[in-house]
Amino acid sequence: MSTKTVRDYIRTISDFPEPGIKFRDVTTLLADPRGFRMCVDQLLHLFTGQKIEKVVALDARGFILGGAIAHQLGLGFVPIRKKGKLPGPTLSQDYDLEYGSAVMEIHEDALVAGERVLLVDDLLATGGTAEAGVKLIERLGGDIVGCGFVIDLPDLGGRARLEGLGLRVEALCS
Ligand code: PRP
Ligand code: ADE
Repeated sequence: MSTKTVRDYIRTISDFPEPGIKFRDVTTLLADPRGFRMCVDQLLHLFTGQKIEKVVALDARGFILGGAIAHQLGLGFVPIRKKGKLPGPTLSQDYDLEYGSAVMEIHEDALVAGERVLLVDDLLATGGTAEAGVKLIERLGGDIVGCGFVIDLPDLGGRARLEGLGLRVEALCS
């Protein structure tokens, strides 16, 4: 029987997309049926017993995990997308990245006020992306049950940033 963990399926590529960045590549995890299932199951397990009404995920890698989690929970899925991709009326939120800055958007009618949301992404680095997602969800009145990630890079401060906002942060590996 394989004893591989989620972390074992993730490869690190140096100097992508810029010199000095150690890029955590989850395509190798997602491409492996055991790895993908393990990772979705472990994220679900972390939030077992929590009342969740919607799964919200962050463009683009977060969609792969968030879609699978929403399907498994029998819940609806809401995408937070990079600027200019959503067709309806949106709310926008600026954010900074480890390597640049950008704008995220959510459809104005994507959540009902008070709805209990699980926020999902593949990776937490500086937390800028996740914080933009948190702000958008909260601007729509969503109640964030927790934030689930496959990878947390704690040295980059994202976990502390989200926990400082009073949020529950869970990750499968660092
Ligand atoms: C990556 C990753 C997270 C974000 C984490 O996305 O998927 O969303 O960076 O970084 P942060 O914690 O410093 O904000 P990226 O912007 O590279 O987009 P992609 O998913 O479209 O590749
Ligand atoms: N997003 C931000 N930092 C990243 C990293 N080091 N690897 C993969 N995605 C990232």
